Amino acid sequence: MIKIAASILAADFLNLGADVERMRQAGADYLHCDVMDGRFVPNISFGQPIVKAVAATGMPLDVHLMIEDPDKYIDEFARLGARIITVHQEATKHLNRTLHHIRELGCLAGVSICPATPPETLGWSLGDFDVALIMSVNPGFGGQKIVPSAVKKIAVLRDMLEKAGVAAEIEVDGNVALDTAQEIVNNGARLLVTGSALFKAPDAGAFIRTLKGMEAGA
Ligand code: DX5
Ligand code: ZN
Repeated sequence: MIKIAASILAADFLNLGADVERMRQAGADYLHCDVMDGRFVPNISFGQPIVKAVAATGMPLDVHLMIEDPDKYIDEFARLGARIITVHQEATKHLNRTLHHIRELGCLAGVSICPATPPETLGWSLGDFDVALIMSVNPGFGGQKIVPSAVKKIAVLRDMLEKAGVAAEIEVDGNVALDTAQEIVNNGARLLVTGSALFKAPDAGAFIRTLKGMEAGA
């Protein structure tokens, strides 16, 4: 089953509550929260206060930490109610330890890789995560164009997981839109993050239904 994570980076921050409600009614499964530190990525977004505010809506949170030293903040985001906490492979010194810590806190453990990072880098961690987040753009900004080679890595990772008999979810983040999502789904992703395309869609509910219906064509 395809699940949709609405990326609040694309929301109207002056009307965040209304936008979250719009996403809930449209059928989003998660709110995707992009936490950026201006160090791991060249942009700063938001942190704990916004995550706390959207947690109060009761929507499941998918927290994407695009930060250096993510270990410093994992406990706090777990306490705020994150369902999924994702760290970047490139920013995490002891990935196995960090992922197990996220699980111990009662959250689903996610690991993300940037477009230039090979999926094989996760080869010795296959049992350690619940979600693998493949970035289909370079992290840091919404509204970018897809990196086509990153989409190919989805199938590589799916094969690695299948061979190992591991049932982790593949999530894709960056320029997921009506014209890009089918290939992403065909390659094996089942959790789709969408920001600009979803929030700008004239009918967010129809947009989400179309994306969810793409599994049939996979
Ligand atoms: C990019 C973020 C994404 C972003 C996606 O660094 O991780 O979650 O919000 O936005 P769109 O869908 O606009 O590419
Ligand atoms: Zn993200």
